[in-house]
Amino acid sequence: MLQRPRGTRDFAPEEMTARRALETRLRATVQSFGYNEIATPTFEHLELFVNKSGADITKQLYNFKDKGERDITLRPELTAPVMRFYFSDLKMRPKPLKIFYFGNCFRYERPQDGRYREFWQFGAEIIGVADKHYDNAELLNLAMSCLRASGLKGFLMRVGHVGILKAVLVSLGLGPEQQKYAMPLIDKGEYQGLEDYLKEQRLTPQDISYLLETLQQKMTLDELIEGKDALSRRLERSKDAQQALADFYEMVKLIKEMGVSPVVIDLGIARGLDYYTGMVFEVDLQELGAEKQVCGGGAYNLEELFEVKERMDATGFAIGFDRVMLGLTRQNYVFERPFLDAFVIPMSRECLTNAIKVLGQIHGSGLRGDMELAGRGMGKSIKHAEALNAGFAVIIGEDELKKGVASVKDLAKRAQEEVALDDVAAHILSKKAK
Ligand code: HAM
Repeated sequence: MLQRPRGTRDFAPEEMTARRALETRLRATVQSFGYNEIATPTFEHLELFVNKSGADITKQLYNFKDKGERDITLRPELTAPVMRFYFSDLKMRPKPLKIFYFGNCFRYERPQDGRYREFWQFGAEIIGVADKHYDNAELLNLAMSCLRASGLKGFLMRVGHVGILKAVLVSLGLGPEQQKYAMPLIDKGEYQGLEDYLKEQRLTPQDISYLLETLQQKMTLDELIEGKDALSRRLERSKDAQQALADFYEMVKLIKEMGVSPVVIDLGIARGLDYYTGMVFEVDLQELGAEKQVCGGGAYNLEELFEVKERMDATGFAIGFDRVMLGLTRQNYVFERPFLDAFVIPMSRECLTNAIKVLGQIHGSGLRGDMELAGRGMGKSIKHAEALNAGFAVIIGEDELKKGVASVKDLAKRAQEEVALDDVAAHILSKKAK
């Protein structure tokens, strides 16, 4: 038998029901903040991602030449496509534009638990921010609200600022190429590799330890708010870093006011994507181990990508939908199961006409209904209805046929009553409402 490609998954009905329920909760949360949904194509021109999303992602692209010899790639993420869409079609809309998306992404990675070659991202972006501090804070609040609404427990948000980080690197004399080399090492927390590289680049031991200490600055919101001056002194070699810290401080005060929690400040966050310019964050769920990051995002600027002149600030995040599902499963979260409201059981062929009529009525009332057609006897039909997680069995036998009724059995309560044929759907609806 042919197997599915490595790193992809099939989803059984129970899993899809659970996934849709999670999607519904996330959707309701972002919509309650005033975000509207958009969709973009599953594949894009290769150029959209190469050298713009970052070295790691470029290595992981699922790219190919199409029949017209064009370089195409399956999307590895949605921020670049969203910005492409913005510049081509949405530019004239009133700002800030608050949008969300839910879509599959593809990365050629080594598959393992929580890391797939096809996975889903649920993300939100604010394009053309109105108030940098407030919009960034709102986005963090939204990301945490989504994760809370998902039912997940025990996740922790870490917030940093690549503006501070990059300004510190500049103040140590590192040029753009050296920064490009250093940032992924910082992102992965490979401090030994970073130290070796900086030694090679002839940085003094003092400068190297200054950088390593700065990267390892972790504190609570209150500690940052109260210790802002001390941190600013640490950054005194760079006016840009101090300015970025002042901005960061304003945003941190807002997330505290919004009650965003639990959050820690972590100046060592570099992110795997190149386009971030300001606040950056990641949310971890420790119990997922190596693939613990369930959400990531930050403030960015994609102007250069599209060679446009105007300054356009944006900020966004993407939740790793599959990792949230995995986390919920590990936490024994009780998911919704597929269900039927009614399972209609005609006891003979003569009863079929009435059964079809009742089933039509059930469908017409927005209820979920199906019918026994495999010719099972009563006992087995009821068992089958239970296996389908049906609320009610609607039995139509010879007796019911003569009386023009159906016997409606509540499968949870084991109670049965006769109901006029025309009233079956209304009866089930009223019982369901109780
Ligand atoms: P990212 O951190 O590369 O950011 O991906 C976002 C999330 O997608 C990760 O935190 C992780 O949960 C999930 N994820 C990534 N790769 C995989 C994989 N192979 N299998 C399963 N889940 C995965 C972005 O993609 C940015 N576009 C986020 C963003 C939006 N920044 C601003 N706006």
